[in-house]
Amino acid sequence: MPAVVVVGAQWGDEGKGKATDQLGSRVDYVVKFNGGNNAGHTVVVGDEKYALHLLPSGILSPGCTPVIGNGVVVDLEVLFEEIDGLNARGVDTSRLLVSASAHIIPPYNRTLDKVTERFLGKRQIGTTGRGIGPTYADKMNRVGIRVQDLFDSSILRQKVEGALAQKNQMLVKVFNRRAVDVDEITDELLSYAERVRPMVADSALVLNQALDDGRTVVFEAGQATMLDVDHGTYPFVTSSSATAAGACTGSGVGPTRIDRVVGVIKAYTTRVGEGPFPTELDDDMGERLRQVGGEYGTTTGRPRRTGWYDAVVARYATRINGLTDLVLTKLDVLTGLEKVPVCVAYDVDGVRHDEMPIDQSAFHHARPVYAELDGWSEDISGARTFEDLPVNAQRYVLALEEMSGTRISSIGVGPDREATIVRHDLLD
Ligand code: GDP
Ligand code: IMO
Ligand code: MG
Repeated sequence: MPAVVVVGAQWGDEGKGKATDQLGSRVDYVVKFNGGNNAGHTVVVGDEKYALHLLPSGILSPGCTPVIGNGVVVDLEVLFEEIDGLNARGVDTSRLLVSASAHIIPPYNRTLDKVTERFLGKRQIGTTGRGIGPTYADKMNRVGIRVQDLFDSSILRQKVEGALAQKNQMLVKVFNRRAVDVDEITDELLSYAERVRPMVADSALVLNQALDDGRTVVFEAGQATMLDVDHGTYPFVTSSSATAAGACTGSGVGPTRIDRVVGVIKAYTTRVGEGPFPTELDDDMGERLRQVGGEYGTTTGRPRRTGWYDAVVARYATRINGLTDLVLTKLDVLTGLEKVPVCVAYDVDGVRHDEMPIDQSAFHHARPVYAELDGWSEDISGARTFEDLPVNAQRYVLALEEMSGTRISSIGVGPDREATIVRHDLLD
């Protein structure tokens, strides 16, 4: 019975939610290990569409225990909004566990996220404004507030006071904002304590025991490889470890216990926010991919930037995550194109790069070197086996597989749970 890590192989929104959900009833635990409500994972079940931000996709599978790991940053207001929203639609959320060591996003960090972006001006990151960066910075700076702090009001007050001693100076003197009141923040956080208490667990212990008992555990990443704070297109990244190694630090499960690492990857590429994107299309074709693919952010509603598949990124993601499998999504969106370009290398100021350039400036100058593959016009949304695909679609998949260096185990041909071709069982 495996421990499977699911990560994004591009810049996010590859369809991780659908991929995790699909493993469904055979999974005992789904753990979110990084990020917070900057994520937006869409899961479509029949006529119902769910947009999950903070909760792991396992919440939609009865019998599966969803876990918010220690690596996640939790906005308590959003947590309960999301729980209430699902309960109102008849989804049982009572199994949810929250790590006692997860950090809380205090309201002042949402403010700081937004004003910092404004101050960056042209150099802004295009964050989701959810307070993610400032909260991870507090964690590293050792002035963060953790879920367990909610259960000792005097400790909580001390910690809020300590954090605000610095933050209020920043808010008032640098950003020209109002100072925040220690008691107000402490009382607001304490108001969630009793509701969250029954969910709080030593999630690392629970997960290790589950693996000892032969249970199946899926570790579901937020964001993606190219947004990882170490391995992504820094500084245009999120502030957490979104790659496979983050599953270990963010959950308290050691690397020797992981059996499989699955990278979810679109048949083309998208990105939300600022930062380099070599295969980006600023033309009608880019708009076509956006419209046909429904490429608007699940969290902020922003139009996603779109472009062709980038095999250099795919190889990089394979290497950084140690991928064992790829889940290729949204192949259906490419139907109707005569030719489908795929980026096989970069040209950086006249020099060919088959792998990611080592410095950021070179990546900013990278121009894609394309191979043109033949397209297909047949509707593929009903395909359920590889052989159901038109031969050019089969060739496209096989070409990506070869360029990326990882087997493509599943192919998405539509948003619904059922709209998938399984070539290799990810839980085997
Ligand atoms: P995540 O953040 O990685 O979970 O991805 P998002 O949910 O933000 O974005 C992926 C979008 O693509 C969602 O709207 C999904 O419903 C949709 N989707 C996932 N797989 C497929 C697929 O194979 N085909 C199509 N057409 N849509 C898909
Ligand atoms: P899922 O899990 C796509 C992007 C933001 C911004 C940068 C930093 O749905 O794939 P942050 O608010 O995290 O400090 O913003 O990261 N970003 C995402 N882009 N999908 C996501 O999550 C993202 N989460 C953050 O747009 O460019
Ligand atoms: Mg998303």
